[in-house]
Amino acid sequence: SAATPQASPAAGAIPSAPPVSKEVTVLFGSQTGNCHGLAKKLSKKLEEQGFLVALSSMSDFKPNGLKKLQNLLILVSTHGEGEPPDNAIAFHEFLNSKRAPQLESLQYSVLALGDTSYEFFCQTGKDFDNRLAELGAKRIVPRVDCDVDYDQPAAEWVASVIGALGAGGAASASSAASASAVVEAGESEYSRTNPFQAEVLENLNLNGRGSDRETRHLEISLEGSNLQYEPGDSIGIYPENHPRLVDELIEAMGWKADELVPVKGAEPKSLRDALLKHYEITVLTKPLLEQAAQLATAGSALKELVQAGREQELRAYIQERDLLDLVQDHALKGVRAADFVSILRKIPGRLYSIASSPKAYPDEVHVTVRTVRYESKGRERYGVCSVQLAERIKPGDALPVYIQHNSNFKLPDNPDTPIIMIGPGTGVAPFRAFLGEREELGAEGKSWLFYGDQHFSTDFLYQLEWQRWLKDGVLTRMDVAFSRDTDKKVYVQHRMMQRSKELYQWLQDGAYVYVCGDEKKMAHDVHAALATILEQEGGLSPEEATEYLLRLQQQKRYQRDVY
Ligand code: 2AM
Repeated sequence: SAATPQASPAAGAIPSAPPVSKEVTVLFGSQTGNCHGLAKKLSKKLEEQGFLVALSSMSDFKPNGLKKLQNLLILVSTHGEGEPPDNAIAFHEFLNSKRAPQLESLQYSVLALGDTSYEFFCQTGKDFDNRLAELGAKRIVPRVDCDVDYDQPAAEWVASVIGALGAGGAASASSAASASAVVEAGESEYSRTNPFQAEVLENLNLNGRGSDRETRHLEISLEGSNLQYEPGDSIGIYPENHPRLVDELIEAMGWKADELVPVKGAEPKSLRDALLKHYEITVLTKPLLEQAAQLATAGSALKELVQAGREQELRAYIQERDLLDLVQDHALKGVRAADFVSILRKIPGRLYSIASSPKAYPDEVHVTVRTVRYESKGRERYGVCSVQLAERIKPGDALPVYIQHNSNFKLPDNPDTPIIMIGPGTGVAPFRAFLGEREELGAEGKSWLFYGDQHFSTDFLYQLEWQRWLKDGVLTRMDVAFSRDTDKKVYVQHRMMQRSKELYQWLQDGAYVYVCGDEKKMAHDVHAALATILEQEGGLSPEEATEYLLRLQQQKRYQRDVY
């Protein structure tokens, strides 16, 4: 909803702005909303400086306007194996194609968000930065690559961009400032950097006895926080590490649990507390290994592992181990606790797609969290947040939370528009929010849910609610795929194929398509199934089907919340 351009300098949409105002275009490519949030903040700052700002999602930007731009600021994240976010795909592709124009008169800078635990760290940001330079554009300031804890480097990039751009033309500053003050009045003081301590009201296991799986349904109170959200948004939860892992780590290192250690941005804490609440100890990254190698004694195998040329080995090691493995495998005992924690990342919040409609449950957020437990390298491993929620959080406890707005996963504005929802497993969560919202709105649009999990009898999440909505007409159709009730596995995409004619008709009728859940396998296979349906039922060639889906994505008629 907020992803539309706020001012179009080319069309002269703000006639009152003085002609001296410099124009700046701010484009973001965002999957979970971080870059969108940063782009909004940056735009506000630029407006306060008197710039005429055109803020837009990359998917709303018309690339043929590129040649006319003078100043372009790009904020983009990377996900998966170095891939651009959905709303950046088309622009990324355009820029890297032969159709991209020479851009000698353009100045630009890129802020890249990423995660150093992935091999292709900030790849999409790097792609944009390199390609724009190749096309002749000049950098305003160098690109900044941010790790998960991006606030400080991002703020530094913003400050240096604004410093380099100079003043934007003072006359519009006051009106821009007063406009943004209005926005702020309704905003909560709580955010990712200042989470709200939210009371847990309910914590249930949704799976039946005998299931292989455990899925928690939590109801969390936002009362008193002034936090607002819409269906499709996510909630961030700051978890605590497992006490057993923390204690084992302290023991393996020969540290003292009550020793005081520094914590960035806060008072020193006891080591145990810092490792429980503040530092990430379950994910290894390349920079962490490099720094740990410097702390290690001479001759340590870790020093060799981080040397150039052993990238694949290093990647394999990182993927399957945690900090306890690292200190045990590489004899890091003897390193001082204060030195060790100085190389750790701050524990990041975990994002969950919200499973409730705020209209149906005012001041509450519901989440659907699958408990992650598995064995690897001779030890039981736990998903940090999911296992905490399953084992150590009871009604009455508090959790530090924030709302992550996601403009890439929103119901159509028109409640009459048909929607197709594909969400196996916990991917069904936001669709409970969608249907709850449509029920409260009295929406007339048709809706169709594809759901799947392992077994009908134990794994049918929110079964009674779907059935009630089907009866009441809030949900028009539902197709389920229980993959382990039959000899041959059936998945949601198989159900979609069986219904290809009707599905194609719904698309022709303007239906929006939503996919939520596993990215690598499910979302990929569902995408392929959609393409096949377009070929079969619409007579499109494979290339045309791909084009069609890209166009749907650009029109926001095909939205994904995948992880
Ligand atoms: P499985 O575990 O029996 O393989 C939710 O996790 C459901 O998604 C399960 O029924 C799971 O089936 C199924 N699933 C696994 N891989 C999938 C894929 N590639 N596409 C769609 N569903 C998949």
